[in-house]
Amino acid sequence: MVAVRILFVCMGNFCRSPTAEGVFRSLAAALAPGLELGIDSAGTHGYHVGDAPDARSLKVARARGVDLSGLRARQLTAADFDAFNLILVMDRDNLEDALRVAPPMRRDRVHLLLDFVPDQPLREVPDPYYGGLPDFELVFDLVEQAARGLLEHLVAAPGLSAKADATPAHR
Ligand code: 4NP
Repeated sequence: MVAVRILFVCMGNFCRSPTAEGVFRSLAAALAPGLELGIDSAGTHGYHVGDAPDARSLKVARARGVDLSGLRARQLTAADFDAFNLILVMDRDNLEDALRVAPPMRRDRVHLLLDFVPDQPLREVPDPYYGGLPDFELVFDLVEQAARGLLEHLVAAPGLSAKADATPAHR
């Protein structure tokens, strides 16, 4: 049985959230294979629905051993807030947009991804779309830090079957 379902969200589901999904899938399989996780990603906007991730995201992830090529963009829906225990957004714009879609009873499921990296000075994963490869490298570094923090949090969570309790310790 899947104990925790996690949805990574950015604006386009084209650069940051597919990277987060791929990195988290890969780290979870390597570091915590016993955890039963549901993992997906979505965008607050529909510009890239059906598209594979940005070529620059694919390139940076491939160089670090993570294959994103099978992922396809989709848009966040209200039903996602019932289907996923944690909705982890990249920046405050995503937070605002996600909260606009969230049923009122499910707003507490939405968190900034970098809440899982309390000692990281950046609180948001910056949008790399109009940048260059170094911006995509920074995205990878940040989501990797967050994936490690999130995994530690999940491994330490008392009884992972306590689904809705899987909220970050630091906000
Ligand atoms: P993402 O980046 O939110 O990390 O997927 C973007 C992708 C596409 C666009 C903007 C940001 N766009 O304007 O099409």
